[in-house]
Amino acid sequence: MELTVFSSYDKLSEFAAEQILQTIKSKAEAVLCLATGESPKLTYSMFVQKAKEQKIDLTKVHFVALDEWIGIPSTNPGSCHHFLKENLFSPLGITKNIHLFDAFAADYTKECEKMNETIRSLGGIDLMLVGIGMNGHIGFNEPGTLETLYAHVQELDSTTRQVGQKYFTEKTELNKGITLGLSHFFEARHAIMLANGKKKSSIIKSALEGTISTQIPTSLVRKHLNAQVLIDQEAASELAQRN
Ligand code: F6R
Repeated sequence: MELTVFSSYDKLSEFAAEQILQTIKSKAEAVLCLATGESPKLTYSMFVQKAKEQKIDLTKVHFVALDEWIGIPSTNPGSCHHFLKENLFSPLGITKNIHLFDAFAADYTKECEKMNETIRSLGGIDLMLVGIGMNGHIGFNEPGTLETLYAHVQELDSTTRQVGQKYFTEKTELNKGITLGLSHFFEARHAIMLANGKKKSSIIKSALEGTISTQIPTSLVRKHLNAQVLIDQEAASELAQRN
């Protein structure tokens, strides 16, 4: 695991956007798994701008979901589906090779198997970019999850239900999520974990300097063979060791 502390959110986002571009430049048929949420928003707008300016061919790139709120329609601005469409797919004109979770699947076990099989048949994930939940979750891999899981349905913990309200325009009942598992995270050929802002400083400290444990799933990034943790000064402010 390699930690980089950036002087600003802008610089962090610029770097992360460049990493996505490089992945595609070195492999036109790259498989990308890109988180939703506030943290990567600027990364994606910078990526969109660069990809357009440099006329990057995205026609062979595959996008796989990281997670989705069960029971939230894709038309809801708080859904992961809606976020990816607004921030990536629409601005880039991408309409194919998109593999997202169905938040209303008739059979979630089958939906998870389908996603596992999609990722397997594509040869695995080349770049998995994730955020850091306030409770240390990765995707919807909540505290106490198992490292051995692939896609699965997860009961959301109280922090996630509460913090998740920020994505919705009105109070929304959030009970379960469907998510890729930590095995997907470990098997991704390159993982990027990013976070910014003072509010993430305490969980960053626990994740990077506390015990490595599934109680703080993001702490497991320290066991990933090729992971970069990108944070800004504010998020790094409680760390004893900064670079
Ligand atoms: C989103 C996701 C979540 C977020 C995390 C941080 O697809 O999987 O794990 O990455 O909750 O969210 P933000 O970036 O909004 O602070």
